[in-house]
Amino acid sequence: MNNFTFCTPTKVYFGKGAISNLKEAVTNFGTKVLLVYGGGSIKKSGLYDTVLKNLDKCEIFELSGVEPNPRIDSVRAGVELCRKHNIEVVLAVGGGSVLDCSKAICAGVFYEGDAWDLVLDNSKVTEALPLVTVLTLSATGSEFDFGAVISNLQTNEKLALCHDKLFPKASILDPSYTFSVSAYQSAAGAADMMSHIMEQYFVLGSNIISDGLCEAILKTAIVNTKKVLKDPNDYDARAQLMWASSLACNGICSLGNTKSPWVCHGIEHEVSAYYDITHGVGLAIITPHWMRYSLNEQTVDRFCQFAANVFNVPYSDDKFKMANEGIDKLAQFFNEIGIAKSFSELNIGKEHIEDMAKHAVEFGCFDTAIRPLNVADVVTILNNCF
Ligand code: NZQ
Ligand code: ZN
Repeated sequence: MNNFTFCTPTKVYFGKGAISNLKEAVTNFGTKVLLVYGGGSIKKSGLYDTVLKNLDKCEIFELSGVEPNPRIDSVRAGVELCRKHNIEVVLAVGGGSVLDCSKAICAGVFYEGDAWDLVLDNSKVTEALPLVTVLTLSATGSEFDFGAVISNLQTNEKLALCHDKLFPKASILDPSYTFSVSAYQSAAGAADMMSHIMEQYFVLGSNIISDGLCEAILKTAIVNTKKVLKDPNDYDARAQLMWASSLACNGICSLGNTKSPWVCHGIEHEVSAYYDITHGVGLAIITPHWMRYSLNEQTVDRFCQFAANVFNVPYSDDKFKMANEGIDKLAQFFNEIGIAKSFSELNIGKEHIEDMAKHAVEFGCFDTAIRPLNVADVVTILNNCF
């Protein structure tokens, strides 16, 4: 088991009615609040009104319209608002995109240059405004981690901004706020949280604790996604998905393991950067192809463990057959929950494959992957996704 240092400083308020803690969570840090949200789902659901009611003693400024795959332009607009109004605390209400945009705003306020510099070089982050979140979509884990992913349409780049200062100070996780998430976004969210786990699970060195956590979270996602697709208001299933998504991305599931370069994420962010696709959908298409490409003598036992412990594939003397059955079952699950099978179904072309592969490898350290990958390997994986 490798050495590690671990700290998640985010205070979690989990469960029905957890919004009653919002006032305390926010006013701990100030009363001048930047409320950040997306395209309007929180107005439709009534959460917007609930938030304002709980913060009636605060001075609220708003940044609305944050896009899925949040853009650096929204970050810049938020930084400006914070400076103009001397904002003391940022409140993000929404899915991962809103949370990520807010994190970048929190850091951008303390940086004199353009906020995109921070995305290109995370070490330029020095300080960040306190961030409180109210999550409305179970997927990214942004509510419980130190990462944000920001897109730049001018340069066709979608890159991570990660820094210890970017953990939310507090996150309100009420699963009933996810009842209104569409079947499409629920499925994409499930694929995303599962991918976070699989990125950490498929490494050369792991331990029984992390394997057990990973396998339990994968099974949680599979069982409960099927339930919410049947009954979107199934509180217990929504609750299990919400906690699974938070645990899946904050590092706790891979403590002591060898490092993973999160290959599928690196590749998916390239595709999102060019074609603005839904993150979880891209991952669900890429992951089985990456697995098949990574399956070899050295990795086969890992894939067999995955097949047995996640999809109950019976042990077989033919290890490759067993491993492939596990991968097939994963692809089948993604199809069952309604996710597209190929890039062609998303109308993605092949014109940028070389550029995407080069950029992914340049930013990705893929030589530490379970099967090390170079540009040509990534080109092959991308081609297999059509
Ligand atoms: O914008 P609104 O109107 O709120 O609608 C959103 C959006 O259209 C809607 N939605 C959210 N909550 C809803 C709802 N609709 C109805 N009811 C609700 N309760 O869902 C749509 C998608 O929202 P978005 O926030 O984009 O989805 P998600 O949470 O999947 O976030 C995706 C982004 O997070 C990044 C992805 O790359 C992508 O940009 N990631 C962030 C990570 C992190 N911070 O650690 C890690 C991930 O790997 C990922 O890369
Ligand atoms: Zn993800």
